[in-house]
Amino acid sequence: MSIVWNDKGFQLNGTQFQLITNLHDLFALKDQEGLVLGKPRDLIETYLDLFSDFSAPRIFELGIFRGGSTAFFNELLRPEKLVAIDFMEDARPGFKNYLDTGANAASVRPYFQVDQADKQRLDEIYTSEFGSAPLDLVVDDASHMLEQTRISFNFLFPKLRPGGFYIIEDWSWAHVYDPGKIFDKNFGGQPPMSNLIIEIMLASAYHQRLIPELRIYPTYAIVRKKATRKPAPDSILPSNASCAEHALEAVTCSAEKDLKPSIGQMVLAAEVVLLLREVANFLRTNRFSRDDCRENRGNTFAQDAPPTQKARGFPRGPEAFAGRS
Ligand SMILES: C[S@@+](CC[C@H](N)C(=O)[O-])C[C@H]1O[C@@H](n2cnc3c(N)ncnc32)[C@H](O)[C@@H]1O
Repeated sequence: MSIVWNDKGFQLNGTQFQLITNLHDLFALKDQEGLVLGKPRDLIETYLDLFSDFSAPRIFELGIFRGGSTAFFNELLRPEKLVAIDFMEDARPGFKNYLDTGANAASVRPYFQVDQADKQRLDEIYTSEFGSAPLDLVVDDASHMLEQTRISFNFLFPKLRPGGFYIIEDWSWAHVYDPGKIFDKNFGGQPPMSNLIIEIMLASAYHQRLIPELRIYPTYAIVRKKATRKPAPDSILPSNASCAEHALEAVTCSAEKDLKPSIGQMVLAAEVVLLLREVANFLRTNRFSRDDCRENRGNTFAQDAPPTQKARGFPRGPEAFAGRS
C-alpha cells in the first residue's frame, strides 16, 4: 500500500482520490469528476492508522455516492469482497470507470436502490454475498438518520466477527457549528443521530463483553466488537437494554425537542449519562435482574429499591467501577 498526498487529495496504489468535505460542494459536483470521497483528511488518517495492522476480507459499506469511499476501502484493505449499498439509481461515471478498469475492482459488489432501513433486503444481500460468514468491517456513511442507522446497526453489528469494527460517520450533524445551515437543510427537523451513539455507549455497559470499546470523535464513532460467551443478541439496541437505558430514553426524548442543545444542556446530559452508567454498573454488580428493573421503573431508585440496595446506597466515583473489566 502506498499513499501520496497532493493538493486535491491523495493517490493510493496509483489511483487518484479527491477529498471534498463541504456537503454543498459535494452535491454540486459534475459527474466527470472522478473518484470523490466525502470525507475530511483527518478521518482518512484515522482509517490509515486503524487499519495499518487490520485484516478485513469481508466488508459491508452503507452509502456509496460517488464511489470514492468504496474504492478507498477496497484499495486500502484489499478485501476478498466489499459489498456496498446505496439508495441511488446507479453508479456515477467516476465509480463506473473504477469498477470497469480498476486492477483490484473485481472484489467490489455494489448494490443500488437499496434502503439501509430495509432489513429484509440487507439480509438477502448479506446472505447471497457472504452466506453466514462474519464481517470484518462495517462502515455506515448513508442516511445519517437515527432510525435508519439504528436498523442497520441492529442487523449488521451481530454479523461482525470478534475484533471487527463498526464505524458510524457524521453522527454529530445536529450539534456542529453550521453557519451556512447546510446540515439544517439536509437534516433539519429529524431526531439527532447522537441518540444512537448514546444508546451504543449505554449498550456497552450492558453488553460489556460484546462492545468492549467505543471511540467517539467529533464527527464519527468507532465501535469494536469482542467475543462473548453467549451468542450475540438479535437486537443490540434498545429493547435488550438495561434500566439505565430505559431511563435514558426520557433524557434523549426531551433533548430531541431542542435539536441544538446549549453547552449547559449538553454538560448536564453528559453528567446524567455518567450517572446512568454508574447505575447500570451497580445494578449488574448486584445481579439486579431486568424484571426487577421493570417493576421499579417509574419509581425513584433511592426510595423504592429493594432493602439491600437501600441500605448500601449507590457507589460513586471510582468505587462504582472497582473490579470491573
Ligand atoms: C455522504 S454520501 C456517502 C459518501 C461516501 N461514503 C463517501 O465517503 O464518499 C451518503 C450516501 O448515502 C445514500 N443514502 C441516503 N439515505 C440512504 C438510505 N436510507 N439507504 C441507503 N443509502 C442512503 C445517499 O444516496 C448518498 O449517496
